[in-house]
Amino acid sequence: MIDDLNLQFGIDKKIAFTLGNGDLPKAILLAEDATAEIYLHGAHVSSFHRHGWGEMLWMSDESNFRTDRPIRGGVPICWPWFGQPQPELPQHGFARTSQWEVIETKTHADPSLEIALRLTDSEATRQLWPHPFELTMRVIVGRDLTMQLSCLNTGEEPLDAEAALHTYFHVQDIDAVRVAGLDGRSYIDKLDAMQVKPQAGELTIDREVDRIYLETPDAVTIHDGAERRIEIQKSGSLSTVIWNPWIDKSAAMADFPNDGYRTMVCVETTNAADDVRTIQPGEVHTITQSCRCEPATGPADPAEAIL
Ligand code: BG6
Repeated sequence: MIDDLNLQFGIDKKIAFTLGNGDLPKAILLAEDATAEIYLHGAHVSSFHRHGWGEMLWMSDESNFRTDRPIRGGVPICWPWFGQPQPELPQHGFARTSQWEVIETKTHADPSLEIALRLTDSEATRQLWPHPFELTMRVIVGRDLTMQLSCLNTGEEPLDAEAALHTYFHVQDIDAVRVAGLDGRSYIDKLDAMQVKPQAGELTIDREVDRIYLETPDAVTIHDGAERRIEIQKSGSLSTVIWNPWIDKSAAMADFPNDGYRTMVCVETTNAADDVRTIQPGEVHTITQSCRCEPATGPADPAEAIL
């Protein structure tokens, strides 16, 4: 399988396929400005390392790497629902535990690299969710990490879909983290009976946080407390989830290190809560998230300082 992938989609010295953890196949993208890794299991981006500014994503070193489990960390894709609408359904949908197929790789002049993966309905997905669909995940690796998740409704009835690019960002120290861009928005507090509350100012995290922010089309910025800020731009999404499990929930999760909550925060570009999307037959809905990792002060790239 790996040989076939390299033959069909490998690009010399830029894109290669190999077996990753748990012998699951993954793509490695070596762009001029950054390196990234994407597992075919879940179309899961597990690493984005902008040269000079370190790893942007947080990965659990206790993650499962099994075909029947989601990977913990990186960017799980939650689809076609967010959370668990019914107890018998898998939490966050089935896209993150499905095997995706690579459909395209290419280079861009700017000079970023791109890989596209696809998931279509099958007997197994139709048992959980009775809709034909074609889901495409495009990952573009350059100075930014850009992810585009597109759902084409290939059926004859409208379908309702939620989605999340459930991104785990690596931060230096959770005590010093500030999340900007949500001031004045309302959020559903999943830890307080789904009450809707207002956000005043920047968000700091000193306890478990699990919130769906509403009406949020704008960029969100994570100040990671040390050298970096991470800006997250988006489109096709009017909701944003912020999640940190804090002490007790970290300890309760088998695939999450006890102290993991100190170095991560999830900022998720979503279609969740009142932002569920109805897609008509033959139509496409795309959710895009573009993340840029920069030093907290000064220009993004050392070269820009002397231009
Ligand atoms: C967040 C949800 O998006 O994902 C939380 O808002 C949930 O409620 C978290 O706990 C992690 O979910 P999971 O299924 O990956 O453990």
